[in-house]
Amino acid sequence: MKDKIYLTTPLYYVNASPHIGHAYTNVAGDVLAKFFRLTGREVYFLTGTDEHGQKIKKEAEVRGLLPLEFVDKMVENFYHLWEVLGIEYDDFIRTTEARHERVVKKVLEILYQKGDIYHSLYEGFYCVPCESFWAKSDIKEGKCPDCGRPLDFIKEKNYFFRLSHYQSWLVEYLESNPEFVRPSTRYNEVLSFLKSKKLNDLCISRPKQRLEWGIEFPFDSNYVTYVWFDALLNYISSIGVFYEESKFKKFWPADFHFIGKDILRQHAIYWPIILRALDIEPPQCVFAHGWWLIEQEDVVEKMSKSKGNIVNPLNLVKEVDKDALRFFLLREVPFGLDGKFSSRALVQRINSDLANDLGNLVFRSLNMVEKYFSGFIPSRGEPLPEYKEVVVNLLDKYTTFMKRVDFFQALENVWELVKVANKSVEERKPWILFKEKKREVLENFIYSLLEAIRIIAVYLYPFIPDTAQSIYIQLGLEKELRRANLFEETKWGLLSEGIKIRKLPPLFPRIENI
Ligand code: ME8
Ligand code: MG
Repeated sequence: MKDKIYLTTPLYYVNASPHIGHAYTNVAGDVLAKFFRLTGREVYFLTGTDEHGQKIKKEAEVRGLLPLEFVDKMVENFYHLWEVLGIEYDDFIRTTEARHERVVKKVLEILYQKGDIYHSLYEGFYCVPCESFWAKSDIKEGKCPDCGRPLDFIKEKNYFFRLSHYQSWLVEYLESNPEFVRPSTRYNEVLSFLKSKKLNDLCISRPKQRLEWGIEFPFDSNYVTYVWFDALLNYISSIGVFYEESKFKKFWPADFHFIGKDILRQHAIYWPIILRALDIEPPQCVFAHGWWLIEQEDVVEKMSKSKGNIVNPLNLVKEVDKDALRFFLLREVPFGLDGKFSSRALVQRINSDLANDLGNLVFRSLNMVEKYFSGFIPSRGEPLPEYKEVVVNLLDKYTTFMKRVDFFQALENVWELVKVANKSVEERKPWILFKEKKREVLENFIYSLLEAIRIIAVYLYPFIPDTAQSIYIQLGLEKELRRANLFEETKWGLLSEGIKIRKLPPLFPRIENI
């Protein structure tokens, strides 16, 4: 078993505050990071911000600030949101940091020496919102083929990176590594694109007279680095490539780059080729998830800063618990597919899964402990037969799905146990056992119920950490789940008899409307 996991999110542009889409990638990354930590691996979970380029320069101007003043101010929104959402990253990298800039310069130097970078005339188009270069043959009706917005025409001398030189290598690499891009729909997309079209070399500079806000070329001070060429290198600069050999060796190759499907080309084509040119191994997996869409006046489109159709997660967590939002994002839509965001769907999901299924289960179970056993956990017993099968198989199923980044199925399987537990209360009618003074049967029933709840909490910890911890506390357990070893904690029978429970109000009150 590998003992480290290196997991990354995109570096978000700081031109605007983060929305649900950005929260989504970071919550997903955090869930996987927490899961792997619970299995005892050493996890390096990286997030950060992309702070150079024209789009940021423009927005700083609008606000009457210097670019550096602007990015220093905007990055706070990201720190703040990640804290509110309980995102435990191990590193946060900003592309304006010295540790990053020196790596970008070194890479340019190496590739220039090698002959993979050359100077030539660029004639083509540029999309500022996407920070993408486009050839005439790429564009549709004069608009950006990705976002449909107007383009700038550019004709100027620039530096190019020999992307085309590595195209056949990449095709072969993809063909022998079908898990390099996931899910498979995205893999097929990349492969068929590469097979159908000859890659152009990538323009990787901007003349300073047009844009000064970027990392200066080490061998030509008239130019700064194209923002994408700069930003992608964060995945190796953060772990000390060229400068901290042992750290780099320990964590590279990355196990997962989590991204949205909007930036697949850069991650599945440019990035492995840049690495190949540097003689560095490609990452294990680029996982491109789907988009949160939003419906406005009968049009369903991608939630995006520039379209002004965003939902601010900070506003949502004033209305609903942050754990509820984390849960919704990963429970509502299988990771990889698009989903439509609406507050109605959010409310429904919280009420049905969290308030009804889980919250009620915990609340009424603890009520029974108070009522039937004066608040003390009854004596330990074997699991009820209806729990046994689910409990025994759950660890295998759950870890398999989590390792495959199938959050949806992992949760689906945990919910099997939630449902079985709820059903057992209905069917075994503990209130009758109590009335008929069947004390031993009742003890075994309640103990089983509480153990099921405890085990459910462990599995849910990566998704809803504070809720899971609260369940542990309510069961009278001191253990900090953050430090737990998942495999140990899912064993049956860890609750000790005679411990006093500490019942709290219901975990998730029903919500009417938001
Ligand atoms: O592209 N649904 O930054 P960015 C789901 N700086 N996810 C979404 C989303 C939506 N509607 N909108 C955004 C950049 N995202 C570059 C990245 S990486 C070296 C440089 C998420 O601020 C998703 O992860 O435009 C997407 O890929 C990312 O935010 C884009 O963030
Ligand atoms: Mg974007």
